Amino acid sequence: MKINPCYENLGQNYLFAATAKKAADYAAAHPDKKIIRLGIGDVTKPLCPAVIGAMHKAVDDMSRPESFYGYGPYEGYEFLRESLSRYYALRGVSLGLDEIFVSDGAKSDLGNILDLFDRDNTALVPDPVYPVYVDTNIMAGRPVLFADAREDNGFLPMPDPSVKADLIYMCSPNNPTGAAYSAGQLKAWVDYANAQGAVILFDAAYEAFIRDESLPHSIFEVEGARTCAIEFCSLSKTAGFTGTRCGYTVIPKELVRGGVSLGGMWLRRQATKFNGTSYVVQRGAAAVFTPEGQAQVREAIDGYLQNARVITSALADMGIWYTGGQNSPYIWLKCPDRMDSWTFFDFLLGRAGVVGTPGEGFGKNGEGFFRLTAFGSPESTTEAMERIRRIF
Ligand code: MLT
Repeated sequence: MKINPCYENLGQNYLFAATAKKAADYAAAHPDKKIIRLGIGDVTKPLCPAVIGAMHKAVDDMSRPESFYGYGPYEGYEFLRESLSRYYALRGVSLGLDEIFVSDGAKSDLGNILDLFDRDNTALVPDPVYPVYVDTNIMAGRPVLFADAREDNGFLPMPDPSVKADLIYMCSPNNPTGAAYSAGQLKAWVDYANAQGAVILFDAAYEAFIRDESLPHSIFEVEGARTCAIEFCSLSKTAGFTGTRCGYTVIPKELVRGGVSLGGMWLRRQATKFNGTSYVVQRGAAAVFTPEGQAQVREAIDGYLQNARVITSALADMGIWYTGGQNSPYIWLKCPDRMDSWTFFDFLLGRAGVVGTPGEGFGKNGEGFFRLTAFGSPESTTEAMERIRRIF
């Protein structure tokens, strides 16, 4: 028996497992210190009343024989796919219900989608970026190329026609830098992908944080995307579902490679390996897209964006360079005093009791940078920034 040798090419730990372990070790060694966690992008506000009401009702449905549900449809309940289709229609994007696939989150789908593609395909991944894109391709033994995201291109790399790629990862608004592509920039990527016959894997997990309404929320707002893109989204950051788990993937009917519909392949894959997201959770998810739910989740996100302003105004006062935090819950800063990012992680934890995420964990271009999240409570965010001010 042979195990998958590609795992030897992975870093020892998943980034957020590594930072969580360091923080836990520090907390165990310093039980008297209160640690503030602004590292992993995990929400802190409870589910909104519209979601809670819908989930309570759904639990009651499950208690009666006439409204009980067993296995659900592999692609998700129609009521949720209809809500999602109406949500996209608000931005002028028309989706068939059979183009929407409900799941337990974008992270799983971003990894699982690779089942559809040959191992010899080349993946093009921005650097820095959410580490799942790279790790899942390394696990599969697929070659990975990087598109450099740097300060001089606003952390928004553009296509290089001399680079041949099959799978193109994009995340906008970006994790970790908070940078967001304009419609014109996305169009350049769509044209490049169509010219190459490549497939864009577009992670829209942070779309609900966009406040600059000139920015696209979905790649399908861009002409030509239906023949080259798959979009992944999640209710984790949109509606506080990190622990509740619900996401969705959009695969247009026109997306065909080798004569085969990728949506059809995905449904075949999901039906074989996944039994769906629970009825109760899908009812809660559908409530996010009601007028009441939309108002409530927007208010929660506005609260997180207010935390982002607390962080960025403190950084500005301290003269620390940063970007992000405007259409994104992430603030990407330059480590002061030319510290490397893991040294800054230890420094901030040891001197201020604040946990962030070292930029190097998102790729080599992240070295010298650091990510803070706006997902804390207002009180802990304010306290974290006061502690940081005291050490600078
Ligand atoms: C992050 O902190 O980058 C995210 O929370 C990770 C995730 O969504 O899985």
